[in-house]
Amino acid sequence: MTQEELFKNIISHCKEYGFVFPSSEIYDGLGAVYDYGPFGVELKNNIREYWWKSMVQMNDNIVGLDASIFMHPTVWKASGHVDAFSDPLIDNKDSKKRYRADVLIEEHISKIEAKIEKEVEKAKKRFENFDETMFRSTNPRVVENQKKIDEINARFKNALEKNDLVEVKQIIIDCEIVCPVSGTRNWTDVRQFNLMFSTQMGSVSEDSNIIYLRPETAQGIFVNFLNVQRSARMKIPFGIAQTGKAFRNEIVARQFLFRMKEFEQMEMQFFVRPGEEMQWYNTWKEKRIKWHHAMGFGTEKYRFHDHIKLAHYANAACDIEFMFPFGFKEIEGIHSRTDFDLSSHEKHSGKKLQYFDSELNKSYVPYVIETSIGLDRMFLAVLASAFEIEKLDSANAEGEGNERTVLRIPPALAPVKVAVFPLIKKDGLPEKAMEIFNNLKQICRCYYEEKDTIGKRYRRQDAIGTPFCITVDHESLKDNCVTLRHRDSMKQERIPIDKIASIVEEKVSLRNLLSKS
Ligand code: GAP
Repeated sequence: MTQEELFKNIISHCKEYGFVFPSSEIYDGLGAVYDYGPFGVELKNNIREYWWKSMVQMNDNIVGLDASIFMHPTVWKASGHVDAFSDPLIDNKDSKKRYRADVLIEEHISKIEAKIEKEVEKAKKRFENFDETMFRSTNPRVVENQKKIDEINARFKNALEKNDLVEVKQIIIDCEIVCPVSGTRNWTDVRQFNLMFSTQMGSVSEDSNIIYLRPETAQGIFVNFLNVQRSARMKIPFGIAQTGKAFRNEIVARQFLFRMKEFEQMEMQFFVRPGEEMQWYNTWKEKRIKWHHAMGFGTEKYRFHDHIKLAHYANAACDIEFMFPFGFKEIEGIHSRTDFDLSSHEKHSGKKLQYFDSELNKSYVPYVIETSIGLDRMFLAVLASAFEIEKLDSANAEGEGNERTVLRIPPALAPVKVAVFPLIKKDGLPEKAMEIFNNLKQICRCYYEEKDTIGKRYRRQDAIGTPFCITVDHESLKDNCVTLRHRDSMKQERIPIDKIASIVEEKVSLRNLLSKS
C-alpha cells in the first residue's frame, strides 16, 4: 500500500467507524472543518487527558487555565496578529485555485528530497558495505539535487526575511512549479492574507465592535498572567497550561485533520527569568520529545526542525515533526517567545505585567518558553501510526477471513478499553456478561455486544482499537472464568472474573505513558 492509499484508507476508516465525519455532511460538507464521532471524541479526550496530566499533574510548577475564545480586540493588535498573522497566497489564473506560496515551494523541495532518498535507497540495495555519507557527498545526481535544495532554501529564507513577495513569486517561476489542477504556470502576484476570522459583538450594528475568533489559545494565558500567578501563588519558573479551540482561515488542500479552520490547541507558557530562556527552551524540547516517544510509535517517526524564519515574537523556535503518511510535518512548536507578549500587553493595556522576584529583589517582565501542539494533528498521528491492515494465516483468522484492520492504539488512549461479549444470546450468558460489563464500566469505557459471531465482534473491536475483549461462555457459569482476548497478539487466555478489573486497569492506565514521558 502506498502512503497515499494509506492516507485515503485512514480517512474512510474514520468515517465508517465513527471517528471523524465531514462537518455538515448532508449539505456536502464545509471545507477543512470536521466533526468527531463517538469513538473519535473518546480518543481525542484521552489524548487531551494525557497531555493535561503530563503538564499539570506531573509538574508541580504548572497550573491550568480555561480562557474564553472571545477576547478584547486590542489583544490581537498587541500580539501582532492584526498586522502580521498572514500567509503569502498566490492564485493560478487558469484553475482559479489559491495556494500558499510557501507551501508550493516547500513541496517542490520535498520532491527533490524524495529523489535524493530514492537514489540513496537504490544504492543501499546495490552495494555491500555501503558508505551513505560518502555516497551523499560524491554521487553527481545527489550532489546536484542537494545543491538545488540549498539554493532554493537560501533564496526563500532571504525573501521571507525581507518580506519580498516579488522574489517569492520569482522562486516559484524559476523552479517551474505548476498548478496541480491546471498544470500551468500562469500565476498571479503573491500577496499577504490575514488568517483571523472576525465577527461582531454588540446587539446594534452601529455600535458593534469587530472581534476575532482566537487564532491561538496562548494570548488567554498572557492576559491572565498576573491573575494566575497571584491567585495560585506561583513562583518563577512556572507554567500555565490550557487546551481549547483556535480558528484560522487556512487555505488548504485535502489534508484532512492536518490543517483545519477550527481546531484545538494544547499550549503551555512557561515563565522564566530573563537570560535563562535558552536553558528552559532546551529543557522543554527534551521533555516534549519524550512525551511523544512514550506512546511507542517509534523514535524514527519524529525529528526536530529549526525554523528558518523566526516569528515576530521569537528568539529561538523549532518544530517537532512527525512522519505523517504525506511526509514529515509539524506536529508541535516549541518557541522562546522572549518578553514580547507580556511587554506588548503592558504597552497596549497600560497595566504592569511584572513579577517581583524576591530572590533577586527586583521586578521584571518574565521571558516565556511556549510548547504548542495541535490536538487534531496528534489525533491524526495516533491513527496513522496505529492503523494496520494485517494479513492472517488461517490458524489465526478467527473464522473471519485472512485479513483484519486493526488500530494498535496505546491502550491508555484507546476509545474503548474493554468489550464484553456473551458467547451466545441465551442460557444465562448475557446476564453474566452484563454483570461483568456493569462492574467494569465503573473503571473505564466499555462496550457490550451480543450480535454476530464472536469472530465478527472481535473484528469490529480491532477496527476501533479496543485492546481487550472478554467472552463469557457456558464454562464461565461453572468456573467463574472468562476468555480475555488481546487485540495486538490476538492471543486468548482464561482468567478468573474477579481478576478482570485489576488486570485491565493496570494495562489501560495512563500511568503507563506518564511514567515514560
Ligand atoms: N501559540 C503558538 C502557535 O499557535 P503554531 O505553530 O501556529 O503556534 C501550534 O501552532 C500548533 O497548532 C501546530 O504545531 C499544530 O499542531 C497546530 N495547528 C496550527 N494550525 C493548525 C491548523 N490549521 N489545523 C490543525 N492544527 C493546527
